Amino acid sequence: MGLDREQIVELLNEKDPQVVSNLFAEAYRIKVETVGEEVYLRGLIEISNICRKNCLYCGIRSDNSAVNRYQLTKDEVLDAAKFAIDAGYGSIVIQGGERHDKAFAKDIRILIKKIKRLSRENPLGITLSLGEQPLEVYEDWFDAGAHRYLLRIETSDNQLYNMIHPSDPIHSFNSRVQALLDLKYTGYQVGTGVMIGLPFQTAEHLADDLLFFREFDIDMCGMGPYIEHSQTPMWSLRTLLLPHEERLALSLKMVALLRLMMPDINIAATTAMQTLHPEGREMAIMAGANVVMPNMTIQQVRKEYKLYENKPGIEDDAAISKSRLEHFLNEKNIPIGWNRWGDSLRFRNR
Ligand code: 5AD
Ligand code: SF4
Repeated sequence: MGLDREQIVELLNEKDPQVVSNLFAEAYRIKVETVGEEVYLRGLIEISNICRKNCLYCGIRSDNSAVNRYQLTKDEVLDAAKFAIDAGYGSIVIQGGERHDKAFAKDIRILIKKIKRLSRENPLGITLSLGEQPLEVYEDWFDAGAHRYLLRIETSDNQLYNMIHPSDPIHSFNSRVQALLDLKYTGYQVGTGVMIGLPFQTAEHLADDLLFFREFDIDMCGMGPYIEHSQTPMWSLRTLLLPHEERLALSLKMVALLRLMMPDINIAATTAMQTLHPEGREMAIMAGANVVMPNMTIQQVRKEYKLYENKPGIEDDAAISKSRLEHFLNEKNIPIGWNRWGDSLRFRNR
């Protein structure tokens, strides 16, 4: 649907509940018509909270000395991958802080290969979310068998980007855009996304984010509300934020609008939505999302991977997360795409 900037801004500002619920219903209809009714699951493995970056909003930023840093062993990651295979998820996401040492790049390559070997019968899809990396590293991991990559642009506005990141060369907007271009060039299905409800962010910024996604021709999107964290510099700006309910409502509108603008991409219902409402992810599915990433990180380290506070499911293990999510989806009669990669239709059709 050819929404222009003005129409997008208007819909983001829309307060009439009837108009908003029509928007969600239309996005859901378009989703079912284009990519189908099924929701795809990706088991999320948070391999490490060690990060070289210091983003001003993030709980695991390198300057936060209150965090216990961890790194899962290869066997722990492989156990999680086995869980995903047995659970019929079809795909996993390996997520972690950004590291640039050679040992890290090599460990990831070995891990990807081991996971591929582990799932020879019915290969697991592997998505990576490990930040900005040199092109050679992206290529190396792609050659090892990863085929999707998530790297959020965070905001498509250079000025706002600079406000929420330290001003130094490793937090540069241009490098972030370049990294997304490198990922596309390498052959990955590329996912990006933004945080919604940031201090100083306007409906116009968010409309431009959606237009950026369309212009970049992304394959996947994961976006969610910004959630304040007390151990970050941006905590001091919390009085400027929208109430949680409005931030969630805005996030759901973003999902619905993106579905109308790019009907054949994969859109995730994110954990941050669930943080603001216990059924936030299910609401996102009803507004056009088609991917959920249940957390499979072992329980012992989950509490150390807090990008934001009140992250749900910290006390759960993978089995509890799994049954809870399935229960919710069953209740809403939403079918799950078991044992499938659930690749982006847009990527396949390109
Ligand atoms: N609130 C919401 N999302 C956050 N992220 C990091 N910190 C926060 C926060 N405080 C998101 C960023 C990052 C992703 C891994 O987590 O968008 O890309
Ligand atoms: Fe590191 Fe990502 Fe957090 Fe930034 S948002 S500090 S890159 S984990």
